[in-house]
Amino acid sequence: MKKYSIILLLFIVFLILLQGFPKKEEKHQNDMEKNQLLYRFYQKEKEERYQQYKQTHPEMEDIDIITRVNLNLDKPYYEDAEPALYLNTNLVFVNKYHYLEENYEPTSLEKLEKCSSGNRLLQKDAKEDFERLCEQAEKEGKTIRVVSSYRSYSYQKTLYDNYVLKDGKEKADTYSARSGFSEHQTGLVIDVDNAIKSFEDFEETEEFTWMQENAHRFGFILRYPKGKEDITGYQYESWHYRYVGEKVATFLKENNMTFDEYIARDLARQGK
Ligand code: DAL
Ligand code: ZN
Repeated sequence: MKKYSIILLLFIVFLILLQGFPKKEEKHQNDMEKNQLLYRFYQKEKEERYQQYKQTHPEMEDIDIITRVNLNLDKPYYEDAEPALYLNTNLVFVNKYHYLEENYEPTSLEKLEKCSSGNRLLQKDAKEDFERLCEQAEKEGKTIRVVSSYRSYSYQKTLYDNYVLKDGKEKADTYSARSGFSEHQTGLVIDVDNAIKSFEDFEETEEFTWMQENAHRFGFILRYPKGKEDITGYQYESWHYRYVGEKVATFLKENNMTFDEYIARDLARQGK
């Protein structure tokens, strides 16, 4: 009897070990994939900065360190700012390190014909896809209305200067872009509300939930998400959506990735 118990016990141990093998294999696979990603995003000339960032952020995974340094997040905002990347494409990249010139105006601004409060302009692709989005939302009983879209350099300057007067520079910088550093100047951005609540309360509306589920299908992303403030450089904005086209928007949603992270990794891939 004792003999059988031992055999049974050994059999159970064998089964448990057998279960562990695929998991080990899976972990190995994950590590391999991570290493391959690291290899793609890693830029040799930034090695020293990666090391320094790791010292001040020992808890962070290597892939996040590389992404952040590639985005210059180890430097103060606005330091060594460069011209916006991918200008005049739907992937134009503007953030606290990439600016648009004072005289920059998008090339194909058009007036929104529906779903807008007042005269508002957007780039052609963004306008057409937003109008499709809005029509679909309407069919499902939701009201999505644009309350701000294209903003010129000088209009952004007036806005920012007023916010600084009201809240001081440090606070204003958390929620408003300085002129030249606002995505609104690209003509690819909308701030929305549901025509009942203020845009600042958009998160509380069912239209927000609808946007969370559907915006990517029409090429829009929530540009400044909750929990990613240290990457985007701005507070969470439930109302601010950026057009990047359906393919990139879907990729970002599926990977829970900000546009900044996408750019940092894409740039590295191209060896820039
Ligand atoms: N509120 C966003 C960050 C802007 O001013 O462009
Ligand atoms: Zn906005």
